[in-house]
Amino acid sequence: MRLADKRILLGVSGGIAAYKSAELVRRLKDQGADVRVVMTHSAKEFITPLTLQAVSANPVADSLLDPAAEAGMGHIELAKWADLILIAPASANLMARMAAGMADELLTTLCLATPAPIALAPAMNQQMYLNAATQANLNTLASRGILLWGPAAGSQACGDVGPGRMLEPLELVERCCQQLAAEPLLAGVRLLLTAGPTREALDPVRYISNHSSGKMGYAIARAAREAGAEVTLVSGPVALTTPADVTRVDVESAEQMHQVVMSRVGECDLFIGCAAVADYRPEQVASQKIKKIGDNDQMVVKLVKNPDIIAAVGALSAKPFTVGFAAETVDVEQYALDKLQRKRLDMIAANDVSREGQGFNTDDNALTVFWQGGQAPLPLADKLTLARQLIALIARHYRR
Ligand code: C5P
Repeated sequence: MRLADKRILLGVSGGIAAYKSAELVRRLKDQGADVRVVMTHSAKEFITPLTLQAVSANPVADSLLDPAAEAGMGHIELAKWADLILIAPASANLMARMAAGMADELLTTLCLATPAPIALAPAMNQQMYLNAATQANLNTLASRGILLWGPAAGSQACGDVGPGRMLEPLELVERCCQQLAAEPLLAGVRLLLTAGPTREALDPVRYISNHSSGKMGYAIARAAREAGAEVTLVSGPVALTTPADVTRVDVESAEQMHQVVMSRVGECDLFIGCAAVADYRPEQVASQKIKKIGDNDQMVVKLVKNPDIIAAVGALSAKPFTVGFAAETVDVEQYALDKLQRKRLDMIAANDVSREGQGFNTDDNALTVFWQGGQAPLPLADKLTLARQLIALIARHYRR
């Protein structure tokens, strides 16, 4: 319940993405928010007030000059009630009116009257979005401190492809959580994080790798960002989208990951090594695709050791607070404690990858976190929940 006791005024303007507003209200309420909806006149052409009233469990306001509504929660009261005004979808027309400072209907009036932050989730046809007038309005609004969340690019309801899609409801909920977070646990902390597998080339088309999906590392990146950290994610090849507001540097091999980490580690306060780095790589990388040779039933590949990235970070004289992972199939605790000492880590999160449904390439995981003189179990949960718990634990020790 990351929005418990938070009051969100959701403005809905007239655009086809308004069909997602009902889902957005539901997801905001899932996080404990109290949601009140204000619709523009044209929004009602796309979705009914009754739908939004039912999902928000609050009356929907749409008129500035309605005596009955004003007798309930008047427009100035409503403007003061909100902790955040989120307008999703925000149409080109609504943004033009806001940029001009108009108070021509209830929603635009609330935007002028509120002391709360205002966030817009633009949604419109890509040509309308790219139009110079819309862009100028967006710049004006941004220069006044209005938050612009999105738009995303992709296929549009009208058949066009381009920028102008409203961010998905869950993404918007995430932005609300970040915006309204009480006390960010890692505010201002610079985190460098590795995630995913590495690929060790044999020839131009083949490589040695492992089953790491990167999901745990990406969940940590997101949780750390939510907690206020500045996050740089050094990622092996994965099929995941970069969490909002996270800087991502893509690498393939362990050597590349090592090089990127060492070049950036001096500017970080916290290092988390979550990547499943290949311990060895082929000694020779063939410049041409390796051919089958005659009747040879066997071929020999000689492997050489890769640099141990986290051990190199741990060995620095001015090292950041360093957190490692240990994926083991047996004697989990013993190996984890050994790694904590040997790699000079401040903390290590151990998981038993031999257990079905947790660890590599799954959505759930369970960890036991060890540090000098203590440990904490983080029981089976989805990786994002676990990542948030891990970040809270790291923050407690980091701040000491
Ligand atoms: O020794 P082991 O590979 O099990 O240690 C796991 C921890 O070390 C993880 O945090 C992993 O990201 C890190 N590691 C590394 N570079 C390597 C091997 C592992 O940073 N070459």
